[in-house]
Amino acid sequence: VPPVTRAPTLDVLDAHGFAPYVDAAVEVYVVAMGKRRDVLPARRDITRRHLDFPGFRGVVALSEGRLAAFSYGYLGRPGQWWHDSVVGALPRTDADTWLDNAFEVAELHVLPAWQGRGLGRALLHAVCADTTAQTVVLSAIDAETPARQLYRSAGFRELLTGFTFPGSAERYAVMGRSLPLDDGG
Ligand SMILES: CC(C)(COP(=O)(O)OP(=O)(O)OC[C@H]1O[C@@H](n2cnc3c(N)ncnc32)[C@H](O)[C@@H]1OP(=O)(O)O)[C@@H](O)C(=O)NCCC(=O)NCCS
Repeated sequence: VPPVTRAPTLDVLDAHGFAPYVDAAVEVYVVAMGKRRDVLPARRDITRRHLDFPGFRGVVALSEGRLAAFSYGYLGRPGQWWHDSVVGALPRTDADTWLDNAFEVAELHVLPAWQGRGLGRALLHAVCADTTAQTVVLSAIDAETPARQLYRSAGFRELLTGFTFPGSAERYAVMGRSLPLDDGG
């Protein structure tokens, strides 16, 4: 009889608690996003830097001690690359409305073997819970992907489409919604 694989358990972690999962998280990122492994060192550095951002909140999904999926975010502040890039691209009133007091979901990735079982949605809700922010914002590749469907179905709307971050040619959609996530939007 093959061993039964249990549904992953979700743990919500602060920056100190998430730090030991950084290496495993960037491995999940590379596999989930279909990236080349040579991006790993740079991703590790970025993720470690994010641990110092205010309001850092991570969620790990563990199956038999192994990372199956993760998400993390933090409070957006002037001086942060993502925050400043998006503020600069939005009309002033939109920037005030959406980014003045925002929780920014930086990463959400589920290993392919675990996709389509509700983990992504559960992680999104868990990472956005218990924050002092009024809005949640994120960026996703500007295409009809499962991620885009997930965010739309969770009540996110598009704030920007066809947006390119400095130094990248990839086109992104920036999406946002009010918090809490469970109030229907
Ligand atoms: C996007 C991702 C996190 C979703 O996680 P998941 O565990 O597979 O998603 P769930 O099972 O929780 O499904 C949640 C919703 O996502 C959407 N979705 C999931 N799989 C989908 C698919 N194959 N096609 C279209 N929509 C899909 C649906 O809206 C779904 O809701 P429903 O089940 O009520 O229809 C996951 O597919 C992933 O890691 N993808 C690769 C990495 C990535 O794109 N990360 C996001 C970067 S912005």
